[in-house]
Amino acid sequence: MKDDLKKLLDSDNKYVWHPYSAMDSDLPVYPVESAHGVRIKLNDGRELVDGMSSWWCTIHGYNHPVMNAALTKQLDRMAHVMFGGLTHEPAVELAEKLVELTPEPMQSVFFSDSGSVSVEVAMKMAIQYWNANNQPEKQKFLTIRYGYHGDTFGAMSVTDPVNGMHSLFSDTLAQQLFVDAPTCRFGEACSDDNIAPFRQQLETNQDQIAAVILEPIVQGAGGMRFYSAEYLRRVSEICSEHDVLLILDEIATGFGRTGKLFACEHADISPDIMCIGKSLTGGYMTLAATVTTEEISRTISNGNPGVFMHGPTFMANPLACTAANTSIRLLLESPWRQNIASIEQGLLKGLQPCAQLNNVKDVRVLGAIGVVELHQPVDMKTIQPMLVDAGVWVRPFGRLVYLMPPYIINYSDLGTLTAAVYEVLSFLDNN
Ligand SMILES: Cc1ncc(COP(=O)(O)O)c(C=O)c1O
Repeated sequence: MKDDLKKLLDSDNKYVWHPYSAMDSDLPVYPVESAHGVRIKLNDGRELVDGMSSWWCTIHGYNHPVMNAALTKQLDRMAHVMFGGLTHEPAVELAEKLVELTPEPMQSVFFSDSGSVSVEVAMKMAIQYWNANNQPEKQKFLTIRYGYHGDTFGAMSVTDPVNGMHSLFSDTLAQQLFVDAPTCRFGEACSDDNIAPFRQQLETNQDQIAAVILEPIVQGAGGMRFYSAEYLRRVSEICSEHDVLLILDEIATGFGRTGKLFACEHADISPDIMCIGKSLTGGYMTLAATVTTEEISRTISNGNPGVFMHGPTFMANPLACTAANTSIRLLLESPWRQNIASIEQGLLKGLQPCAQLNNVKDVRVLGAIGVVELHQPVDMKTIQPMLVDAGVWVRPFGRLVYLMPPYIINYSDLGTLTAAVYEVLSFLDNN
């Protein structure tokens, strides 16, 4: 290893904390020199085909010339300006676009820094709405197990209690209501029995419940589960019948990932509040939005204290809004539905052979998401270097080895990804 590379890694190991990691960890981290299209170039010269879209964001690939040009132009105008008392074209354009693209009742847009914060904002909106409606006792949230909504305290309180390690934070974390996750899978019907636990929990506690919060169709980081669109439709109906708001967390699913622009379209429903993040900026920088109906924003604004109580420093950052406007334009001008459909076919064909392996429990694909669920958790120390040696960037977690490639990936690179997953898993199966 070259001296400068060794120095970088030594300092990283000594000073830098990585996500969900220990300091001074013996797990490998790989220095990245640059990234282009669907390729991540490591400092040691190796190039990896990207199967992760950098945690599901980089839908147009890295270093996109149109994105780069738009950001450079905006940089010449201003990188940032505060949003209290000031406004700017990139934010207004983006808000208009989000209102146009999200289901029809969505009319008001609140920008924030990250997915987790947009969930906090959604939860605060729900509570302020009921306060303004003279029902301040509605403070709790109902959700389903295996969900993931982020790492801040409000978001953590509605994340799966086991995955979210609630016991560690039990004295601080708000106590919310949970029901078992749906067992009816995507493409299946939802029977009265399937929905009964949800209905019962909601009906028992409706006076206290401000909102139900769910990831529509795909439960991402909590288990990569794809559930019935009819279940989601019935959840929406039950919420409306019982005066409970519905928050849909589209942070991972938004902008085409499941084959629809937003996953709630599979169930043909619209929420009261929607959270959007991740691929909003094409993976260029962090930005999220919480979008809601005119009814909710007007009620909050007309209630006490007459304002919505949130306002982050970097709210509606102009560079991030420009990235989002450009990314959305690129997406809508591309044949994204066809691209996702052909990625879905490629994932199905390429990952299906994994189903024959003894260590594999299930293989499932939806849109540009391919999941191989194993019987046992992976050993990251073993599997990560094997995947890198196979020329791919794939980052498994728990019992899940999954692919969420950029939408611009071609058939051959997709084949490289699926073949690498199969080869690595079959080697581990035999050893
Ligand atoms: C569904 C969902 N909600 C919220 C979040 C949190 O977003 P962020 O990491 O930007 O805070 C994530 C991140 O993985 C997510 O998948």
